Amino acid sequence: MLITLEGIEGSGKSTQMKRITAHLEKKGKRCVITREPGDTPIGKKIRAILLDPESCGLTSLAELFLYAADRAQHLGERVLPCLAAGDVVVSDRFFDATTAYQGYARGLDLEVIETIHTLVLKGLRPDLTLLLDLPPEVGLKRAISALEAGDRTVDESRFEQEALAFHEKVRKGYLTLADREPERFEVIDATLSADEVTEEILRAIDDRLARING
Ligand code: TMP
Repeated sequence: MLITLEGIEGSGKSTQMKRITAHLEKKGKRCVITREPGDTPIGKKIRAILLDPESCGLTSLAELFLYAADRAQHLGERVLPCLAAGDVVVSDRFFDATTAYQGYARGLDLEVIETIHTLVLKGLRPDLTLLLDLPPEVGLKRAISALEAGDRTVDESRFEQEALAFHEKVRKGYLTLADREPERFEVIDATLSADEVTEEILRAIDDRLARING
């Protein structure tokens, strides 16, 4: 089973990731936490380029290909072997992030992005995608507090430095994707408290597990 978490900056994904795996492990599932970009040794190098504010000269197309390269490596080295071993894989971001950020927000051709996804994913689709949705003003405030508290380093802040309008487009992009695939997506109100968000997430996961197991 593949579960993906998506959302704009400051949507609280990291906190929820740990709670999701704790819940699944309590149910006797073997769980693997992973993320994009940067889960593999090669991916870590790609992540450093992508998130460094000094990469401000990166073109949108180069950015798209770096995310695709990270994903190809992530799939080959981590996701596919773990799924084959019967693990539940929980990924902090996956291909929907490319459609939302590089497609809807940067304005790259959605058909080109879809073609790259076909090539990289080879038909793999998450069983469940949890979209933590909240207004960008709230998300960015949280993300900037995390930077100030040192929970996230400045050399990973390239996207936090994007204008509010960019994050609005990302949010709308994600919501469009969720509208298009209501079976796969579960939209969660991330303005709720972390505990309330966890409750919603775990309910969605349990529903999905019950459906998969018949
Ligand atoms: P994060 O690891 O804190 O979520 O940071 C990853 C950043 O990369 C975040 O700003 C979203 C962005 N991103 C894209 O623009 N496209 C993608 O395909 C992915 C996976 C992430």
